[in-house]
Amino acid sequence: MAVASGEIRRSGFAATERRDAWWLAPALQGGLLAVLIGYANWAAFQGNHYQVGGYLSPLYSPLIVVPWFPLSPAFLILLPPVLFRATCYYYRKAYYRSYFLDPPACAVGELRGTSYRGETAFPLILQNLHRYLFYITAAYLIFLWHDVFNATRFDGHFGFGIGTLVILANTTALTLYSFSCHSARHLIGGKLDCFSCSAANRTRHGLWQRASALNEHHMAFAWTSFITVCSADLYVRLVASGVIHDIRLL
Ligand code: FES
Repeated sequence: MAVASGEIRRSGFAATERRDAWWLAPALQGGLLAVLIGYANWAAFQGNHYQVGGYLSPLYSPLIVVPWFPLSPAFLILLPPVLFRATCYYYRKAYYRSYFLDPPACAVGELRGTSYRGETAFPLILQNLHRYLFYITAAYLIFLWHDVFNATRFDGHFGFGIGTLVILANTTALTLYSFSCHSARHLIGGKLDCFSCSAANRTRHGLWQRASALNEHHMAFAWTSFITVCSADLYVRLVASGVIHDIRLL
C-alpha cells in the first residue's frame, strides 16, 4: 500500500492515503457474489430439471419431495447451507466490504458514524450461530457423497460420465470448504490447554495442524465451492432439459 508522505490526512467516507486500486477487489467480489446468489435463487425457484438418471443437483440435495409443499423441494433443505455461507467469516468480510462499505477496504474511510458495535448486538450477534450451522451442514456432506456414488450408477452398473466428474468436483470442493472452516478448526483443536499431555491430545494436535493448513485456503474454497455448486446445478439442468447430452467416459 503506497502512502503519500507530507499530505494532510483526510477523513470521512472513502478517505484514504492508499494509491493502489483498493476498490477493485470489493467491486469484483460483490459482482461475482451477486451473479452466484442470483443464479442459485433462480435455480432453487425452478422446481424442475434438478435430477436426471443418477445425477442430482446439489441445490436439491438431500432431495425431499413433499406433495403438499407449495414451493420447490430446494426450499425444504437450503436454509442451513444458505445461513452457513451467510455467516462464514470469509463471506462476512466480502459482503461487509462490497455491499455495506463497512469499511470498503483496509485503511479506507467507512460509511458510518461513531456508533460501531461490531457483532456484539442484534442483528449481527446472530453471526455467532456459525459454529452450529457448521455442525448441521457437515451432515449434508454424507448425502452429497452419496450423490457422488449415485452419479456412478448407470442402469444398475458402474459408470463415469462428465456429470459424475462435475458432481464429484462439487462435493470435493464443498468438503474442503466445510473442513477449512474456522469452526471446524476450533472443534478439532479448540479448548485444549496442552497439546502434548495425552495420546488423544496429540492426535487432536495433528488433526488441528491439518485443519489449519486447509484453513489458510478457506477463501479459495469458499469461491470454488460456490462456483461448483452453481455449475453442477447448471450441468444437471441442461442435461435434464435435453439441451446437452451427458458424455459417458466409462
Ligand atoms: S468460516 Fe467460512 S465456512 Fe466457517
